[in-house]
Amino acid sequence: MSVYKRTHMCGELRKEDIGEHVVLNGWIQKRRNLGGLIFCDVRDKTGITQVVFDDKIPQALFDKADTLRSEYVVGIKGLVKERESKNGGIPTGDIEVFADDLIIYSQADTPPIYIKDDDNVDDNLRLQYRYLDLRKKKMQDNLTFRHNLSKLTRDYFAENGFTEVETPVLIKSTPEGARDYLVPSRVNQGRFYALPQSPQMFKQLLMVGGTDRYMQIVKCFRDEDLRADRQPEFTQIDLEMSFVDVDDVIEIQEGYLKRVFKELKGIEIETPFPRISYDEAMERYGSDKPDTRFGFELKDITQLVADCEFKVFTDAIAAGGSVRGICITGGADAYTRKKIDKLTEAVKSYGAKGMVWMKVAEDEVSSSVNKFFSPQQRKEIADAMDAEAGDLILIVSDRNKVVFDSLGFLRRHIAEEMGLLDDNQYNLLWVVDFPLFEYDEEAGAYHAMHHPFTSPKAEDAELLKTDPMKAKANAYDIVLNGVELGGGSIRIHDQKMQEDMFRALDMSQEEIDEKFGFLVEAFKYGTPPHGGLAYGLDRLVMLLLGEKSIREVIAFPKNQNAQCMVSEAPGVVEEEQLDELGIAIKR
Ligand code: AMO
Repeated sequence: MSVYKRTHMCGELRKEDIGEHVVLNGWIQKRRNLGGLIFCDVRDKTGITQVVFDDKIPQALFDKADTLRSEYVVGIKGLVKERESKNGGIPTGDIEVFADDLIIYSQADTPPIYIKDDDNVDDNLRLQYRYLDLRKKKMQDNLTFRHNLSKLTRDYFAENGFTEVETPVLIKSTPEGARDYLVPSRVNQGRFYALPQSPQMFKQLLMVGGTDRYMQIVKCFRDEDLRADRQPEFTQIDLEMSFVDVDDVIEIQEGYLKRVFKELKGIEIETPFPRISYDEAMERYGSDKPDTRFGFELKDITQLVADCEFKVFTDAIAAGGSVRGICITGGADAYTRKKIDKLTEAVKSYGAKGMVWMKVAEDEVSSSVNKFFSPQQRKEIADAMDAEAGDLILIVSDRNKVVFDSLGFLRRHIAEEMGLLDDNQYNLLWVVDFPLFEYDEEAGAYHAMHHPFTSPKAEDAELLKTDPMKAKANAYDIVLNGVELGGGSIRIHDQKMQEDMFRALDMSQEEIDEKFGFLVEAFKYGTPPHGGLAYGLDRLVMLLLGEKSIREVIAFPKNQNAQCMVSEAPGVVEEEQLDELGIAIKR
């Protein structure tokens, strides 16, 4: 069978093409037979054109057209004519093509999902038949947008002296926060490669190797719980630069994001972006990735309630915690008891044992804890929260982490419920001055908040030896509308400081050698000062397209259980394959 050489894409025909004889290749979206006339919508990745088979064509051709069904793949030759009943809803609505030839490349069973952008079909079905889902114009547009972003990214960084270098995918397991995906080695039985959680160590080795400015659009793998903005395999725009400080890295990134927004969204964004310290982000927003498109900022009322009679507050304070709240402007009416109960339930997953609410009216402040607070005390709390009549106050008392996590969640959740999140507003900001270490409650130990090669701020270098937990890092995250787009740091290039760092982390020489030996060794031979950052490419595309999940911008994403619904990975393997690897399945 021959293939027609197409002259136009289906979605691109316009008034100017009237009178032209064209060739289209695509899928039948739908077909209607009105007796003497058959109308077909023919679709490809660019859109749809209406094709007409009328009674002037040979009967055999008309009969053939009558056999067409949805999703048949066809080639059509015909004449572009002005369409009588214009369809303003589609770009090709001014024209239609009068067919004089038709080839049916393949027939199709009735598809299990409609090829329609807003079909509301179950997500699992969409993932199972992803190749059908991808026929939707929106999905093709998303893939094209992603391609355009990748291209712009390579262009921008190439223009700024970066070289794209590929780093290995079969690497040694190194601790990087999440769980590794392991790959057994046949040649070295009992040993495993890990898939990289990021090319972190290799990009640092590239700096030692003199690459100077490195970039890579690279797949990374992390075995962690999935969320709307997390996939087990995702893509980073990974960057590293030599001879730079924080301001240099930030400047080049702001230039990049400015260009992304201008060229891909037609939006001028202002640089420099605001910078906010980690401490301030937590105090004001309860989050290290604050969404600043709306208010509801946290207020600390620990001092005000320190001597109150409500034990829940005073106990939390006595245990070293705090009492903080948010004021939901105009929230008093919108949030009924039932809705507030739901919020209380929701904060429990952040460790909060409960939540206190107060509703502010003209003449009084009512609350869930009226009996513990006099009307005057309630008024004082409302004043401290800058609340006015009609506002709702929500208060949580606990360890700081629980308070921040709970209120951070509430402010964004409520803003979403109240429709305050404007998808067309892009608030970019840098969160800087992260703590160098954080306490891991599960492990009962401190670990590096970014990774052990992140340098402390110059003025905190001494703290590494004296009071390491107080030290702040030369680390930065770029945040867009409450989503962490990327993060990075200036690394340690000084051997002495690296030793101090390992000591602060309580790591034995053995442990250091085992985990990072090759990097420590490499640093002995002349290391330039260096630093970098990595963006989550999927997240960037998701936010630019106003999508709610990164799955919408990945051709073949995994489902909630980390399975590929199309290929059914992960799958079982032959006994023989396991034998070759020296592996036995325990259960
Ligand atoms: P980090 O771990 O912060 O830094 O990752 C960088 C960015 O990658 C994205 N990201 C993810 N996207 C989708 N699914 C995931 N599971 C996932 N995990 C992370 C986020 C995140 O901000 N090597 C360091 C960077 C550096 O220091 O230069 C690193 O990987 O957008």
